[in-house]
Amino acid sequence: MFIRKKRGWELPDRAATPEAIYLSRRALFAAAGAGALAAVARPSPAHALFNSLFGSSEGLGETLDTSADPTADLYPFPRNDTFTISRALTDETVTGSYNNFYEFGSHKQIWQAAQALKTRPWTVTLDGMVEEEKTVDIDDLIRAMPLEERLYRHRCVEAWSMTIPWSGFPMKALVDYAKPLGSAKYVRMETFMDPKVASGQNQSWYPWPYVEGVTMAEATNELAFLVTGVYGKPAPKQFGAPLRLALPWKYGFKSAKSLVRFTFTDKRPVSFWEDIAANEYGFWANVNPEVPHPRWSQAQERVLGTDETVPTQIYNGYGAYVADLYADKTGEKLFM
Ligand code: MTE
Repeated sequence: MFIRKKRGWELPDRAATPEAIYLSRRALFAAAGAGALAAVARPSPAHALFNSLFGSSEGLGETLDTSADPTADLYPFPRNDTFTISRALTDETVTGSYNNFYEFGSHKQIWQAAQALKTRPWTVTLDGMVEEEKTVDIDDLIRAMPLEERLYRHRCVEAWSMTIPWSGFPMKALVDYAKPLGSAKYVRMETFMDPKVASGQNQSWYPWPYVEGVTMAEATNELAFLVTGVYGKPAPKQFGAPLRLALPWKYGFKSAKSLVRFTFTDKRPVSFWEDIAANEYGFWANVNPEVPHPRWSQAQERVLGTDETVPTQIYNGYGAYVADLYADKTGEKLFM
């Protein structure tokens, strides 16, 4: 049984979860790293522990099977080896069962609830300061984009991290496709809105839909990646299918899921968490071990799927790609 506040992910797990459960979960994820959880259908001590903590893991494997997706024939995408990682990939049974997706609940085990999301038909609208506004079918969009796989680190503001093989296309390709006007300074992104399937969206204290934003320079940086798949296949729903963002140098909350709209604008977007608590979550949200969250340190991170805690790196280790973007941003709160 978890003790939850309304906005649970603002707290590190240590603070949001009774210590005993936290420690058990660490043991569980360590077991998962060793492959025990990969066999979730087989009764095992880890399986029993998972069930007693989070409810049944029955059916997790089915949610990870996306072979019926209309774009499944395109996978796996060729890997772009520019983006290498020094850590082991996190097991899919961990990344697929420990998610933040508040539309489906303010806890980590939303993988079952997220299956209610209907990801076809799905359209993406490109509007605002563009030559011509358009709405495109997701499958047509995916088939028009330069597809590749990248291995990225993923660092949540809650001080945990994962390493994930994302499939997708550079965000720059979408920007080029949208043909923004020279006056556009930001891209505002919006997640779907459907309280009938996403019960969290009935919680009126949240400013739905989930909104995020980046500058044009960030959107066209080579690291900014739009994700359609994981582990060499279309993304399961809990990962933010059919289209989500991955900005590996920023805290994970910037990487909005299940996107339906990209609006090019000259006004800085106010994002979901910034709207809720601007004193704790800002627009930039770049990873920095030396700038603590107001309520916890960012110096270290728990590597999910292992028993390790490692030092956090500035820009999550991606400074060579992005530090220049911020050289002239004096006076901005770049790390919250
Ligand atoms: N996008 C939407 N639409 N809703 C969310 O609640 N959570 C964010 C981000 N994108 C969130 C979202 C947070 S806080 C994190 S850490 C990442 O998604 C988690 O991605 P993951 O579940 O694939 O690890």
